[in-house]
Amino acid sequence: MDEAPDSNAGYFYGRTLREYQSMFGLDLEALRGKRVLDVASGPASFAAEAADLDIEVVCCDPRYALDPVELRADGERGIEFTRLAYEHFPAPLSKRFYTDIDDTIAHGQRALDHFAADFEQHRNGRYIAASLPEIPLPSRSFDLVLCANFLILYADISPGIGVPALDYPFHLSAVEELLRLARGPVRLRPSHGIFGEPHPYADRLRVDLAGQGHQTRFVDTEYELTELTRPLLQIQPGAIRPG
Ligand SMILES: C[S@@+](CC[C@H](N)C(=O)[O-])C[C@H]1O[C@@H](n2cnc3c(N)ncnc32)[C@H](O)[C@@H]1O
Repeated sequence: MDEAPDSNAGYFYGRTLREYQSMFGLDLEALRGKRVLDVASGPASFAAEAADLDIEVVCCDPRYALDPVELRADGERGIEFTRLAYEHFPAPLSKRFYTDIDDTIAHGQRALDHFAADFEQHRNGRYIAASLPEIPLPSRSFDLVLCANFLILYADISPGIGVPALDYPFHLSAVEELLRLARGPVRLRPSHGIFGEPHPYADRLRVDLAGQGHQTRFVDTEYELTELTRPLLQIQPGAIRPG
């Protein structure tokens, strides 16, 4: 029998609320009292910090099935891998958001520390062990759905880090699932290659999702990892949807 394809990929590395705010162009004041879904959320501290601002964030990641000690160790490894990745990054890193690699990694460490404490307290509430393309939550239950640093980034065609199971059909099913869960926009990043080049999967998604009645557009944000990676891909669910 064939083995199930391994779609669980990516370093367990997460970002802070300030990074999420910048990456996704979030208006935190407007999100007060709203429900946000963060898929492939890793050890981000976005949910923990957002709770203090009266924003309810539900997080999904397959690694939340691990116990807190294993997760912390996974997070420390993620920080090491990410430092190495940035030290050998093929495109010039921007100084617009982070001052240097140490500053980038300090953000990751703060996020991990905050996440680890919050996960111990809320592991049966805001953190759900689940994998795209199937998230076991009710349809249209979130005002905003986010997915950062998983889709496109680890696509099977990404040189060096691509994962075979993350092919185009996986991407389409994953985004259809995010749209099922959303009653407001879905925002994805990255949306381009690391040199700012158009990504074939983002372009195919735009065509296929437009064919299903959804509206897609690239939205520029302040956040830069390199000077070329600013836009996110926003999908506004169409009015007529099954389910
Ligand atoms: C680099 S982290 C991104 C964390 C966070 N979104 C951020 O930008 O700070 C990628 C995450 O994707 C998760 N992941 C891997 N396979 C997944 C899948 N099939 N569905 C959802 N998440 C997945 C990994 O466990 C990892 O935590």
